[in-house]
Amino acid sequence: MTTILSLAPLRGLTDAIYRNTFARHFPGFDLAMAPFLTTFQGTRVKSARLDDLQPANNKDLPVVPQILSKDAAQFKVLAAMLTDLGYETVNWNLGCPYPMVANKGRGSGMLPHPDKIAAFLEQLLDLPCRLSIKTRIGRRSSAEIKELLPLFNAFPLAELIIHPRLGSQLYKGDVDLETFAYCLAHSTNPVSYNGDIRRPEDFQALQNRFPDVERWMIGRGALRDPFLPAKIKGMPLPADPAARIRAFHDELFRLYSRRLSGGGHLLGRMKAVWFYLAGSFSHGDKILKKIQKTKKIEAYNALITQLFQQET
Ligand SMILES: Cc1cc2nc3c(=O)[nH]c(=O)nc-3n(C[C@H](O)[C@H](O)[C@H](O)COP(=O)(O)O)c2cc1C
Repeated sequence: MTTILSLAPLRGLTDAIYRNTFARHFPGFDLAMAPFLTTFQGTRVKSARLDDLQPANNKDLPVVPQILSKDAAQFKVLAAMLTDLGYETVNWNLGCPYPMVANKGRGSGMLPHPDKIAAFLEQLLDLPCRLSIKTRIGRRSSAEIKELLPLFNAFPLAELIIHPRLGSQLYKGDVDLETFAYCLAHSTNPVSYNGDIRRPEDFQALQNRFPDVERWMIGRGALRDPFLPAKIKGMPLPADPAARIRAFHDELFRLYSRRLSGGGHLLGRMKAVWFYLAGSFSHGDKILKKIQKTKKIEAYNALITQLFQQET
């Protein structure tokens, strides 16, 4: 059975610099999904908004763009621009749980409205590229996805990626594998699994339970342990993992310091990286607290040097 692993989108973290630097240091992912782009009125877009998806910025890991929108006409405009950049598939975000998004009827906020989803999809039948969907199983009830599956089945999706939680759960509580099994049994589109794969054992248990699933998406687990995709695929691991993490960190730092103006932005971005990456270290919580307290780049650099000296 083939196993295709994709890096999940995490807005504010997995931008092109992160995705491609990750792929240069840690093998195992076959592709990534980019964090969502929002749609806009009109037919022109500031080119900087598409920087993250320019092919030149994505040479080390294939990427699928994602759009968050409740307006099909605007979705089509942006999807056409992405098609012009060379993308064959564009993903529609039906999963975002954040109240600022969901309360406006976007992301998981659209899931209780099958009529709106049907009308949206109907307008997308002449899309110049293929469509995939990334969804939760409902906003407030898993009955929602059961009602939506026939609508999804009527559309030839490239892929239906399911994170089996409700939007209202945010990231709390367990994933609902019963409902995932129902979706798998009732979807005529290829189904991918996403959610809470933290260790190779988690993947193994899921694969044993759902042997027909070929495509798996991993987010936080891989940001915490960047060797996770290689471990899942049985690829060799480096003799000195901490040195590999250091090389990854240093390259990220160098690339972000070129792109982000001002030490504050750079420090903020590196702290976001460490929020997960600290999980790779035995005293991760302590390390993270210290990093989060730093206010100046010099102090940050001194701390990181000290940290890696202890680890290697
Ligand atoms: C900080 C953060 C940002 C996220 N941004 C996006 C996003 O832009 N698009 C999306 O579809 N999902 C987004 N997600 C959800 C993840 O892609 C993924 O579905 C979720 O984290 C569950 O998978 P995991 O347990 O493997 O991390 C985000 C999650 C987090 C924690």
